[in-house]
Amino acid sequence: MDSETQRDARLTWSVNPDAPATSNEAKAPFVDNGAGPISPERYFATDWMERERSQLWAKVWNWAAREEDVPEPGDYVTFTIGRESFIITRADDGRIRAYFNVCPHRGNRLVKEDSGSRPDGFTCPFHNWRFGLDGALDKLTDPETFRPEARCRDLSLSEVRCESWEGFVFINMDPNAEPLLDTLGPLVAHAKPYRLRDMRILRRVQAVWESNWKVGVDGFNEAYHVHAVHPQILPIFNDYHAQIDLYPHGMSRMVTKFAHASPRMQDEVNAALRATMCEVGIDPDTFDGPMEAVRPAVQAAKRARAARLGLDYSGFIDNQLTDDWNYFIFPNIQMGIHPEGVSLLYFRPHASDPRRFIFDVIVMLHPQENPEILPPAYMGLPEGWDISGREPAVTEHIDWRDGGLGEVFDQDSSLFADIQMGIESAGFRGSVLSEQEQRIGHFHAELDRYMAHKA
Ligand code: FES
Ligand SMILES: [Fe+2]
Repeated sequence: MDSETQRDARLTWSVNPDAPATSNEAKAPFVDNGAGPISPERYFATDWMERERSQLWAKVWNWAAREEDVPEPGDYVTFTIGRESFIITRADDGRIRAYFNVCPHRGNRLVKEDSGSRPDGFTCPFHNWRFGLDGALDKLTDPETFRPEARCRDLSLSEVRCESWEGFVFINMDPNAEPLLDTLGPLVAHAKPYRLRDMRILRRVQAVWESNWKVGVDGFNEAYHVHAVHPQILPIFNDYHAQIDLYPHGMSRMVTKFAHASPRMQDEVNAALRATMCEVGIDPDTFDGPMEAVRPAVQAAKRARAARLGLDYSGFIDNQLTDDWNYFIFPNIQMGIHPEGVSLLYFRPHASDPRRFIFDVIVMLHPQENPEILPPAYMGLPEGWDISGREPAVTEHIDWRDGGLGEVFDQDSSLFADIQMGIESAGFRGSVLSEQEQRIGHFHAELDRYMAHKA
């Protein structure tokens, strides 16, 4: 990599330098967000966390549910972000609606369960007021004991905006927020061929990690640490020549080549690349090309195999069959999108502790009944996992100290606790960013814009 030192690193790389400017793989223009330092207080100050409540979480689109979570009127799920809780339900007219999970009488939580079905509406367990699926108050206990001036107040549930994209239901507490699809920008078109709407969540694991949520976002927004923390994947992962694209609204993308060794490794067809070939039906003993030829060979083999297995790759370019196309949806979702499925990481703030966050690791796939089709190994599903999609996934709660998220995540989890401690040190002067970490700068620049606005 020494020969690269004269190159302007700010440009990062193009996975396909010949890609037409209008194509999904085109490199986005450079955006200058500086190189740091990023002030450390944001990662631990209670005051910052409180301001994020009103200036960030109350203003952005928060992913709350999937449409298939509430198939029938009265079906509901609850969604939590920080100290707020919401009910997402399907009303009698078929529309999905979202309400603060708060009774307008004296503030009790209406619903405690994660999910359920209440076709007759929601009854508050404190004094049995009942609300219809449209949020209106249907039954008031002992109405004669309320004065007219109390009864004439708005006694319906507080509703929030609720919009969908590809089956993902988002809510927004800000009535003046831009429409969801506008904030998703290029992702709306880029995601079309993947048919995310037809995918299903087949595994969801949740853990509380010992750092601020932004340490999590930062850590998963760069591949710079891979050689140090996850060296085991370097034989099949080009961590260095990543294409980084910065888009409006804090969104970013990183495309990294799989089935291609890191330049930090010897340039040879190593054992892991041979195993990758085996996975797609190539006999590595019959392969005599150079290392760079493995990735195109894997792409061709996947296409050849697709017809036999009934998979449809027709809407995808070759690079999408092997590489990680990783999108960051501001402020807290990461999606590694593949034709077979999505690896989704969700970083939510803890209700009261800026030094913790709620981390969901989610695997979505196109459900498969064909036993010949195995989930891709990078999804990390345990062997024999049911991918038929017949049963909705139940969230598994784990303790990060016990492991169980897979080798790569387990390597990150203990590291993040150490980063949190270091960031809080009086000796730390704020993060300095390389151009491999442009997505982090882009994320914090957008966050700073939200925090600069008064609530
Ligand atoms: S607080 Fe809900 S009915 Fe009284
Ligand atoms: Fe990592």
